[in-house]
Amino acid sequence: MTPLSPACAHEFRAALHAWFLRVRRDLPWRRERSVYRTVVSEFMLQQTQVDTVIPYFENWIRNWKNFDELAAADEADVLRAWEGLGYYSRAKNLLGVARRIAEEKRVPASVEEWREFRGIGAYTAAAIASISQGIPAAVVDGNVVRILARLSGDEREFRDSASAATEFAELASSVLDEKNPGDHNEAMMELGALICSRRSPRCEICPVKNFCAARARGIEESLPKFPPKKMKKVEVVRLWCRVGNEVLLVRNAAGTRRLKNLCEFPRLEDFAVPAKTSAKWEKIFEGKRGIADEAITERFLCVPAKFSGRLEKTFSAEQAELFRAGTEDLEKLTLSGPHRKWLRELLKISA
Ligand code: ADE
Repeated sequence: MTPLSPACAHEFRAALHAWFLRVRRDLPWRRERSVYRTVVSEFMLQQTQVDTVIPYFENWIRNWKNFDELAAADEADVLRAWEGLGYYSRAKNLLGVARRIAEEKRVPASVEEWREFRGIGAYTAAAIASISQGIPAAVVDGNVVRILARLSGDEREFRDSASAATEFAELASSVLDEKNPGDHNEAMMELGALICSRRSPRCEICPVKNFCAARARGIEESLPKFPPKKMKKVEVVRLWCRVGNEVLLVRNAAGTRRLKNLCEFPRLEDFAVPAKTSAKWEKIFEGKRGIADEAITERFLCVPAKFSGRLEKTFSAEQAELFRAGTEDLEKLTLSGPHRKWLRELLKISA
């Protein structure tokens, strides 16, 4: 990967920095900086979006104001405060960081030292060191890869995001603002989140569009290139159970891995129905959806109205609540996208 010329890199970072100062989001971990606040926010942001993290971060800081307070906490309380953020090993690792720092009475002073902690990889180490300690280390994650692949017009296909990050490490370092590495890294994150999005990047208002080789060639949406994802085929059997004006639905619990709090059609597997009974139910609809790396086919069986009472008694899903929704209330419920669309079809079929 060829670095930008020093003059070009200088202009790039100046344009990026000026833009960041103008538009940066007012996020709680940016209002007041400390190593502790940065470590907490970067752990939370590892696999979770900014909007979700905000209330968790604020609550966390109310509970534990510094490494010493967190180090003295019970693991059970720490896990409870993490509830809903997912990937709980992050909470345990964050507690481990606090306990070691409290015990050693010293915070790490380099990217390499940060990386010695469990749960802190290259990205998090560079983010913490640059944002809270002014250490000149460039972050490289999916957002930064996307920006740099477009900036340099790099049309190579990368095996996966980790190998792309390795390939772009040198270019990321060559554009880094060494005097202001924290702002620079956050500006790159902000550019990836707000402007240089994967689909439909907002090039017209991009502060660094004049440096972008991909835009000059009109290929920005096609970069960076990765092999097509191998999708796993999954089949689900759903039930369409309408009794008069009511339709049977489930509401997913807040703690489910996917589709939290959303309403969907119930799955056959969540009921104790003899196979020879369900085999007689009419297959009335089939829909396809994709979630992450799964290509899901959902087949709908129509449950005879007379069977619905018995069916409901056999429901036993831990992560969902079964309920009947009046057809006049269906528009008020939050359904997953595909189920909203399929509901309209199913209402037509069963009218
Ligand atoms: N994602 C990871 N770290 C972040 C930060 N400091 N600000 C915004 N988004 C982020």
